[in-house]
Amino acid sequence: MTLAIKNQEMFASDESKIFSITVQAGTRKNGTCEKVDKVIIKAGETLAIVGPTGSGKSEFLSDIEQLAYGDTISGRKILINDASPDIKGFNPGLVAQLTQKTSFIMDCSVSRFLTLHAQSRKKHLPGLVEKVLEKANTLSGEPISARTNLQVLSGGQSRALMIADIAYISDCPVILIDEIENAGIDKLAALDILTDSNKPILISTHDPVLMLMVQKRLVMKNGGMNVIWNTCDHEIKYLKKLKQMDTHMMRTRQKLRNGEQVKGEIND
Ligand SMILES: Nc1ncnc2c1ncn2[C@@H]1O[C@H](COP(=O)(O)OP(=O)(O)OP(=O)(O)O)[C@@H](O)[C@H]1O
Ligand SMILES: [Mg+2]
Repeated sequence: MTLAIKNQEMFASDESKIFSITVQAGTRKNGTCEKVDKVIIKAGETLAIVGPTGSGKSEFLSDIEQLAYGDTISGRKILINDASPDIKGFNPGLVAQLTQKTSFIMDCSVSRFLTLHAQSRKKHLPGLVEKVLEKANTLSGEPISARTNLQVLSGGQSRALMIADIAYISDCPVILIDEIENAGIDKLAALDILTDSNKPILISTHDPVLMLMVQKRLVMKNGGMNVIWNTCDHEIKYLKKLKQMDTHMMRTRQKLRNGEQVKGEIND
């Protein structure tokens, strides 16, 4: 299973709350120093990781997931709340990560999986399983039924279920999503669901709307952190127009995949 949702008891108390994640630079693919020497992501912030294919976005997320300490190919170091995490007592519950390849290997129904997962997290809220399913169904196309076997879910349905699970059951202090826009799910609704928490969120993306919707974006190049931008006022205005175009594109996609024909003009 590629959804790395792990136990998080050590982070249940307030003293262990994550206020910031710091990524200290290592080296690029060619062995030279990264141009950005440090990136800090605070609780409640969302950082977009952008860059061409192969530029090192997934590697960057993986360094955080592993709490790298100069021991990965990039040589980066990760600090939690400005301090090195205790590597010996490495806490496997720090991160909920949704990777680029998503699939379930458990052989049970969707509701059984969600119930077991909620129980393992000691979450006994009435209606939680139904809520997760309802949220997942706002993200994907054909509805996911509680009785469906996990293994017959499509790529998009699996991803939608994992995102809703990360938001409401996993409840890990850091969220990493590799290409949230993948597999045809509603990316803006997914971002809304995830940002509804006061956690550091990192999303790698190729989608310009998502890039401009978040406060900061880190641009990767040749395996290294190349530049970091805050979304400026001009980009926020630009985003308004871009979102209209995106909505139009999504509506057209919806029509075509529902078997309808496109009529009228492009602006209709
Ligand atoms: N700093 C680095 N030093 C050495 N190798 C690196 C570094 N960063 C990334 N790589 C390697 O480069 C390859 C491509 O990186 P990665 O998969 O992270 O790219 P990506 O930006 O996620 O691409 P895509 O958009 O296709 O998902 C991987 O094999 C990765 O391990
Ligand atoms: Mg990648």
